[in-house]
Amino acid sequence: MWFELESRGAFLFLILFARQASALKYLFVPEDDDFFADCPKSSSNVLNVHGMADMSKLTLARNNGKISISGNSTMIWNIKPGDRIEMVGKLYQFVRGKWLQTPFSMTVPDSCPLLYDKPQYWYKYWTRHIINAEDIKDKCFYPGTKLIHEPFDVNVVMQFTGLPLSGRYKIVTTFKAFDQKNVQRDTSICIEVFGEFERIN
Ligand SMILES: *[C@@H]1O[C@H](CO)[C@@H](O)[C@H](O)[C@H]1NC(C)=O
Repeated sequence: MWFELESRGAFLFLILFARQASALKYLFVPEDDDFFADCPKSSSNVLNVHGMADMSKLTLARNNGKISISGNSTMIWNIKPGDRIEMVGKLYQFVRGKWLQTPFSMTVPDSCPLLYDKPQYWYKYWTRHIINAEDIKDKCFYPGTKLIHEPFDVNVVMQFTGLPLSGRYKIVTTFKAFDQKNVQRDTSICIEVFGEFERIN
C-alpha cells in the first residue's frame, strides 16, 4: 500500500494517523555517526549531501546515542535563486534482505516558503536551530546561502499507530529544483538516513 499526499508540508506521518486513538511514540535513533548516507545506484546527476552543501564547517558527533550538530553549512547546489524546490521524503523498512517502501511519505511541492514555518517537522528538528534565519529566509537553498546553527541534538520523535515498528529503517529525502518555466534543473539531491525506532511510551 502506498500513499502520497501533497500537503502544505505537514508531515504525512502525523496526518494519516493523528485521528487514531493509540498512537505510539518513537525516537528515531540514527545508525551512522555521519548521519547522512548516499542513495544507492544514483545516476551521476543525482548528488549526495556534499553536492548540496559545503559541510566542512559543520560538526556531527554522537552524544549519548543522539547526533549533535553544530557549525555552519553553505549551500553549493547549482540552482538559481527563485527556483521552486520540491522535497519528497519516504520511509523504507528492511525486511528479509530488501528495502520495502512503507505507507509513510510526504511530498512538499514548494518547500522554500515553508523552511522556517513553525508547524513543520523540519522546523522543530532542524531549521529552528538556524540562528541567522531572519537574514536567509528568502534565500532558501540557493547557492551561497550560509546556514549558521546553534549547537543542537537531533531528537526526532514520531507517532505511529498500527504495527509496532521494529528493525532497520531508512528515510530517503530527495530535492528537485524547477525554474520559472517549471523545467527541472540538471541535478537533484538524494540523501538517506538509516536508523531504528525506539519506543518511548
Ligand atoms: C559560523 O559562522 C559564524 C558567522 O560567520 C562564525 O562566527 C563562526 O565562527 C562559524 N563557525 C564555524 C565552525 O565555522
